[in-house]
Amino acid sequence: MKTRITELFEIEHPIVQGGMHYVGFAELAAAVSNAGGLGIITALTQKTPEKLGLEINKCKELTDKPIGVNLTFLPVVEAPDYPGYIQAVIDSGVKIVETAGNNPAKWMPQLKDNGIKVIHKCTTVRHALKAQSIGVDALSIDGFECGGHPGEDDIPNMILLPRAAEELNVPFVASGGMSDARSLVASLAMGADGMNMGTRFMVTEEAPIHQNVKQAILNATELDTRLVMRPIRNTERVLTNNAVEKLLEKERELGKNIKFDDIAAEVSGVYPKVMIDGDMDAGAWSCGMVAGLIHDQPTVKSLIDRIMREAEQIIRSRLENML
Ligand SMILES: Cc1cc2nc3c(=O)[nH]c(=O)nc-3n(C[C@H](O)[C@H](O)[C@H](O)COP(=O)(O)O)c2cc1C
Repeated sequence: MKTRITELFEIEHPIVQGGMHYVGFAELAAAVSNAGGLGIITALTQKTPEKLGLEINKCKELTDKPIGVNLTFLPVVEAPDYPGYIQAVIDSGVKIVETAGNNPAKWMPQLKDNGIKVIHKCTTVRHALKAQSIGVDALSIDGFECGGHPGEDDIPNMILLPRAAEELNVPFVASGGMSDARSLVASLAMGADGMNMGTRFMVTEEAPIHQNVKQAILNATELDTRLVMRPIRNTERVLTNNAVEKLLEKERELGKNIKFDDIAAEVSGVYPKVMIDGDMDAGAWSCGMVAGLIHDQPTVKSLIDRIMREAEQIIRSRLENML
């Protein structure tokens, strides 16, 4: 399958693995890239720019295919060493960066001067248009279904993707709720040039996270995610658990007066406890509604091969036969 995304990133299949905190390590990114997709390492999971450089080197030993690095610009008072992380990406020779969380304008000149292609992830058409105007090469359009931060506008992909297609000139991938061949074909039909998956890639053999996390997603249905931190306008879609229900109770009780400190226990420092230790009640961790469509734990290659094989069947048989 050839799309503007496969051409832009020089990959075989139009499938991207989005940056994921404490999931997007070298092993997963390499497995996705080796299978013909685009694997992405998550920069901020690495404590320092030096560690990010080492993680990229490790990934390059595992694959000679294109890989990317996710740079998430967080809404925090004390910003991480972004110049250092960007320099580490440049020094490593990686030529694709996924930006997210905030407008990447400040970093665009340096990224473009170093021949880096930028795919920016956002959740609204207006943010996508802004990103396009500052010169990003592609967009990852994240619908309301997505695991992680869906923003505050709550537009599901059935509307968001065709709206993006109406407005954008640069290629984009559909993100949020994507799991299989049906997702890919539907995304292409709605104007996207490929798809981005987060939660689905967590339940693969190579995802370097605790088996408890994979099992929790396998056990979950589409009814089991919750939106937290909406009162502080930092909405995150997470899998429910005891800590999440406690957090939501606090949000109901404290109402508009709630501050980050009130919920820090349920949202700070949670990822290593969940992803590495497998402590499933440690706090709130991102997970998409697509959990309801995840029923097995394949290798990354068998997942991607299956998606591409079945996408062809849907297009050539199911759709063609309807005409
Ligand atoms: C556990 C987890 C951690 C994530 N961490 C990040 C992150 O650090 N930066 C980022 O830009 N997106 C992050 N995301 C969002 C994903 O890159 C992707 O946009 C999202 O998962 C797509 O929705 P899906 O889960 O329905 O496939 C995370 C998602 C999950 C599930």
